[in-house]
Amino acid sequence: MNIPVTSPMAASVSDALDRMPRARLGHAPTPIDSMPRMAEELGLAGLTVKRDDCTGLAFGGNKVRQLEFYLGNAVAQNADTVLITGAVQSNFVRLAAAGARSLGMDIHIQLEERVPNQTALYHESGNVLLDKILGATLHSYPDGEDESGADRRLGEIADSLRQEGKSPYIIPLAPGHAPLGALGYVVAARELMEQFDSQGFTPDEIVLASGSGHTHGGLLFGLKAYGCTATVSGICVRRPRDAQVPRITSRCQEIADLLGVANPVSDTDINIYDDVLAPGYGQMNDATRAAIKMSAQSEALILDPVYTAKAMAGLIVRAREAAPGTSMMFIHTGGTPALFGYAPEYFGL
Ligand SMILES: Cc1ncc(COP(=O)(O)O)c(C=O)c1O
Repeated sequence: MNIPVTSPMAASVSDALDRMPRARLGHAPTPIDSMPRMAEELGLAGLTVKRDDCTGLAFGGNKVRQLEFYLGNAVAQNADTVLITGAVQSNFVRLAAAGARSLGMDIHIQLEERVPNQTALYHESGNVLLDKILGATLHSYPDGEDESGADRRLGEIADSLRQEGKSPYIIPLAPGHAPLGALGYVVAARELMEQFDSQGFTPDEIVLASGSGHTHGGLLFGLKAYGCTATVSGICVRRPRDAQVPRITSRCQEIADLLGVANPVSDTDINIYDDVLAPGYGQMNDATRAAIKMSAQSEALILDPVYTAKAMAGLIVRAREAAPGTSMMFIHTGGTPALFGYAPEYFGL
């Protein structure tokens, strides 16, 4: 990539990024599409979407960029088996399975019961079907809120794999580990800066889902390091704002520590909204259902019920409150296979 080096900070971030182990798994750069009908309906001067649902590998999504750094590390350590934990309809575990297979590795997935009252369809279709087609060994974990416990259990599975002579690599869930996944979004920020440069236009505000914070933290860190003027707004999909703000704050510092550079993100850069989160992770509300229909019926843009529909519902709230002349970009982070784990009634259809 060759965006103009605008500052010593940009140069040192690029140098550090390019030294990290990385396995190329996805298609990039992902396209930017315009959403003219929705922009008009929302009273925006412009609305575009960065199509990170089109990163290529096994139905794509944001986690492909993150996995390039985790699995790059796994390859550097000569691992032969990848272990990961996530919700039953997790996109991350599906893509870890695909990434592992594309590098000739074995894959163990632990599925956590994180979303209450789900149907047989939820437990069998969508991402679960893909996990099985990819030949993952599935384990289950009863508690979806116990990140450290879920990681500990993965550690036990890894121990037994070692006893069988395998060389396992764990992708951890709980905070407190090097944020390798976030580096994928520092790279995405560099890609976006090139795209803004060649189109001669930068939107005022970029809106995306904020869950583990690797995507939000990485993108925010990268855009600030590369001198971008856009505001970045994270929409809570997993936990309320009070818990998400410190998570993104520490993610950004962890990225700086990992890359060995100064942290370009200050507290005032961290914008987080949780007004469309209720009733909780993986559970829709009227605003989410309306966002799915509006995006599909005005722009043929398909959103998923867990992440991107909530993020788009958050964008719709922000757009309706925005000053005249505001332009926005939505980051479509993927997740569409999860649609097929929910019955039509769930969408009000
Ligand atoms: C489709 C999709 N969008 C957004 C996110 C949130 O990304 P992050 O966990 O990096 O905050 C996820 C996380 O699993 C996801 O699968």
